Amino acid sequence: MGFFVRHKNALDKQNLPEHIAIIMDGNGRWAKKRGLMRSAGHTMGAKNLEKIVKYLGDTNVKYLTVYAFSTENWKRPKEEVDALMKLLEKYLRDYDNLLGGEDVRLKVIGRKEGLSKTLIDLIDEVEEKSKNRKKLTINIALNYGGRQEITDAVKIIANKVKQGEIDVCDINEDTINDYIYTASVPDPDLIIRPSGELRLSNFLLWQCAYSEFWFSEILWPDFTPDKLEKALLDFQKRNRRFGGV
Ligand code: FPP
Repeated sequence: MGFFVRHKNALDKQNLPEHIAIIMDGNGRWAKKRGLMRSAGHTMGAKNLEKIVKYLGDTNVKYLTVYAFSTENWKRPKEEVDALMKLLEKYLRDYDNLLGGEDVRLKVIGRKEGLSKTLIDLIDEVEEKSKNRKKLTINIALNYGGRQEITDAVKIIANKVKQGEIDVCDINEDTINDYIYTASVPDPDLIIRPSGELRLSNFLLWQCAYSEFWFSEILWPDFTPDKLEKALLDFQKRNRRFGGV
């Protein structure tokens, strides 16, 4: 009978987070360092996301949520916003080529108001086409804000109370979970923010109650799967108690 000795720095593939969330930050600085337009940084950021998805497709991570565009990002110069929207359209159009073979489901979370009809149609099409894929689900947070998400859930619940469908006394955390954009998705176990910023920027405010946070100086286009693996190794060393002992 042989013994399997695991190297202390080896990733335990059986103990990975079920849900990873990433703030894909630092594209602008990545481009600036190379004398390129900010939009070139976003293009490289999208390419890096493909690498990360391919890497996760070979693990048993079930959900990846990425912050692509916040409700506050409309304040950026029109040229940059337009380039980001075009990039998202391209990503959704190429989706099958990029990820089709990977059994990856794609969902978009956020407010649809404000997005172009072309983008909304593409989102509907891709969500419908990929809805039975099971290996990995990617949630793209687009026109997303955590406070807006909670506000939207409150409005739905208030309406249901008004219609007599929900009794105020029965409202609990599960009720909120049922009406946020990520309903039926487990909370993120690990939230990663590259690029040196140490804040959440209105991302998954309700869902992050017991998430582990991992920050890095590396800019998102350089945050390749080997860097993610470092975050996963650190995650495996954390002692998650969820308020217990
Ligand atoms: C933040 O970096 C990044 C964004 C606002 C956009 C993220 C979008 C992508 C990575 C590409 C599109 C996404 C998909 C799903 C195809 P920043 O511009 O704020 O960088 P900076 O802090 O260096 O200025």
